[in-house]
Amino acid sequence: MWRKLENLRKIADTGIVLIIRSDDEEEALKVADAAIAGGIKVLEITMSVPGALEIIKTLVNKYSARDIVVGAGTILDGETARAAIMAGAELLVSPQLNPEMIKMANRYQAVTISGAFTATEMVETLEAGADLIKLFPAESVGPRYVKAMTAPLPQAPIVPTGGVTPQNVHEWLKAGCIAVGVGSYITKAARADGDYRKVTAAAEEFLQAVAAAR
Ligand code: 3PG
Repeated sequence: MWRKLENLRKIADTGIVLIIRSDDEEEALKVADAAIAGGIKVLEITMSVPGALEIIKTLVNKYSARDIVVGAGTILDGETARAAIMAGAELLVSPQLNPEMIKMANRYQAVTISGAFTATEMVETLEAGADLIKLFPAESVGPRYVKAMTAPLPQAPIVPTGGVTPQNVHEWLKAGCIAVGVGSYITKAARADGDYRKVTAAAEEFLQAVAAAR
């Protein structure tokens, strides 16, 4: 099947896009490995991680046979979008509407999740050709905002990000979200003691919560 379609389906099926944001390259790689061991299939390395492009290349090579979607996050311009795609990223994520990123992604058929908050921004994001809408920071509005927004905009494929946990993920999915963006709940699970099995366990717990909510 067409790879982009498969990747979109993977996001919808697993329901989680893992956001790895760290100030340490080695930690980012360990988190990615541990989360993948816990069942995560789609992840983004934010461009703020030192050596982000190298991490993306490493993960793409390591997991090419395992059908893991490796993406790049916090893309702010077209140049960074191109560099990420050349490094092997199949998913590009931006916190804001960034038409250059969307154009570049569409040229190479990478999936895009583009930041939007208001109804105007969401419609502009869809018109710009983005695949999915990143509602950020989601915790500041809550699932009721998604429910309200998808009344006039039922076609908006919303991925809330910021403050989503296994305890509240069912509310976001029930409100009509196609998937959720998850960072600290999984990525920071080993911060206190360096035990990355806790990252694996947090990923498993999150995936179970998504499955139970559907
Ligand atoms: C990010 O961009 O790092 C996300 O907002 C993560 O949010 P979370 O850590 O609350 O899941």
